[in-house]
Amino acid sequence: MTTLERAEAAEHALSQELDRLVIVKSVIYTSGERDPRVPAPRPPAEGRRHLMGHDPRLPRMPDRPTLFDFFRYRFAPASHLLQSARLARKNGLDEKIVLACLLHDIAIAGFIRGDHGYWAAQLVEPYVDEEVAWAIRYHQALRFYPDESVGYRYPDLYATLFGPDYRPEPYIERAYRYARDHRWYMTARLLTVNDLYAFDPDVQVELEEFTDIVGRHFRQPEEGLGLDASPSAHMWRTIMWPTRYL
Ligand SMILES: [Fe+2]
Ligand SMILES: [Fe+2]
Repeated sequence: MTTLERAEAAEHALSQELDRLVIVKSVIYTSGERDPRVPAPRPPAEGRRHLMGHDPRLPRMPDRPTLFDFFRYRFAPASHLLQSARLARKNGLDEKIVLACLLHDIAIAGFIRGDHGYWAAQLVEPYVDEEVAWAIRYHQALRFYPDESVGYRYPDLYATLFGPDYRPEPYIERAYRYARDHRWYMTARLLTVNDLYAFDPDVQVELEEFTDIVGRHFRQPEEGLGLDASPSAHMWRTIMWPTRYL
């Protein structure tokens, strides 16, 4: 078979598999596009099974997925994360800050955008040093507030994206004030300093560059990330199997 024939055969097999499945999107996928209070139209279910595991439209994850597997199969290309981590390392920062840079936007890369710092912190909390998760949680708020002492200015990009009059919500303001007086403030602040807004689409950074740091500072569960019993395992499972019916 030629490459084209193989691709067509794979597509045909996928569409046949999908014909046998009912896939119902979670409300969070459609809320806003639809009024979440109105029941969504159901695809006809006769003779078909509701999806309860792997979604055939997605790359299959290994049986015991690692953090890097999530990067490969759910967050890729993750250039922003990899380039931020490389910058932190180049700047000679502590390994904890390099790890925080590598993980800080995983929620945007593969889960949920809104309040991404909080989601990402919660995802990694059971597996990293408390200070790393703390920095990830508060980078979201600190990004909105300058700190001259380390040369951090309000991002021009934010002015472009949100308009010059945008003001963060009061809870973000409160989080900033709390973080500013915290003993780990500088960890989160250095994360924002190395959080690249203008990352280079042509620079390719390999995950393997961080194998050593992840090995030392990320407690990879034996059973696989998401298949362990940590307080955030279910969130990793949702990233792995985002369309399961239950
Ligand atoms: Fe961020
Ligand atoms: Fe970022």
